[in-house]
Amino acid sequence: MENDSKPPPLIQIRSLSKKYLIKKSLFNKEYFYAVYNVSFKLQKSSIVGLVGESGSGKSTIGRLVLKLIQKDTGQILFEGKDIYSLTKEEEKKFRRETSIIFQDPRTSLNPRWKIKDIVEEPLIVHNFPKKERKQLVEKAIIDAGLDTTFLDKYPSQLSGGQRQRVAIARAIVLSPKFIVADEPTSALDVSIQLQIVNLIKKLKEEKNIAFLFISHDINLVGILCDYVVVLYRGEIMEKGDKEAVLKSPKHPYTKLLIASVPLESPKQRKNFKEIPEVFREDIKGACVFYHRCPYAEDICKQKPTVKTLKNQEVYCHFV
Ligand SMILES: Nc1ncnc2c1ncn2[C@@H]1O[C@H](COP(=O)(O)OP(=O)(O)OP(=O)(O)O)[C@@H](O)[C@H]1O
Ligand SMILES: [Mg+2]
Repeated sequence: MENDSKPPPLIQIRSLSKKYLIKKSLFNKEYFYAVYNVSFKLQKSSIVGLVGESGSGKSTIGRLVLKLIQKDTGQILFEGKDIYSLTKEEEKKFRRETSIIFQDPRTSLNPRWKIKDIVEEPLIVHNFPKKERKQLVEKAIIDAGLDTTFLDKYPSQLSGGQRQRVAIARAIVLSPKFIVADEPTSALDVSIQLQIVNLIKKLKEEKNIAFLFISHDINLVGILCDYVVVLYRGEIMEKGDKEAVLKSPKHPYTKLLIASVPLESPKQRKNFKEIPEVFREDIKGACVFYHRCPYAEDICKQKPTVKTLKNQEVYCHFV
């Protein structure tokens, strides 16, 4: 039971699953779980990093949380309310208070619209009076680190980093409480990536916006996030406070992820020797990491239950 005196987390995801049909015959339908039994919380004004390799289900979770796609099972609560049982008015408020930034601003911004129209559109959708809109658009573009001279330009006249700032201005123009940032820096040069990461940090601190920061780059997650969720093939392997998960990873997959990226300091890197990957046959019902885990034993042919440590939770039989 929730403690009534404490406000609920901004977002609670409980045993969330999403499956896709992959094969259909006359007698048989075969499904594949893009997300399976995923649970985590996101506190107000915090940044949760969702990390995992390509195809692990990160974007699917981002879209599920915003109800851009339909879940199969599980629950998603926003400020304690199930987003699938909102009234019409509550649904409108949910749409106004949540937003998304995509990976590639070249495709997410309409090339035929001026920047001012791109940033203004959410205000029109939510029926803001015309006289308020201009001021809000100007404020959003400035808060995103650009100036008002950009408003009359087209996306093609901007650099990649500037375009992503426009996407951010559009995402913050309604003063949301929560933004899904789906790989917002991976289409950008390394030098620009850090600027966008710093902008996200600033928006969290100054505007109390919470973010679900989706990335395959555990380094960026380490710089930006308060809490980390490690995903593999649609399932959580490990989750917990950033310090715990990144400095003292317990799951072999988290260790593998950390070992395979260049860490900021060589000293840190020394602690994470490359661990070998093993490829075995997939077994239905086994730990999803079984086929690649160097430490797998017979018990791993069964799914592990969660092991709760002080600051992290790990899905591994050997923790
Ligand atoms: N509409 C769909 N129909 C069928 N399969 C889908 C659909 N959308 C996603 N998938 C599959 O679900 C899995 C998870 O996809 P998702 O896009 O969430 O992964 P991701 O972690 O965001 O990957 P990336 O890092 O490449 O963006 C993938 O195997 C993908 O092919
Ligand atoms: Mg994705």
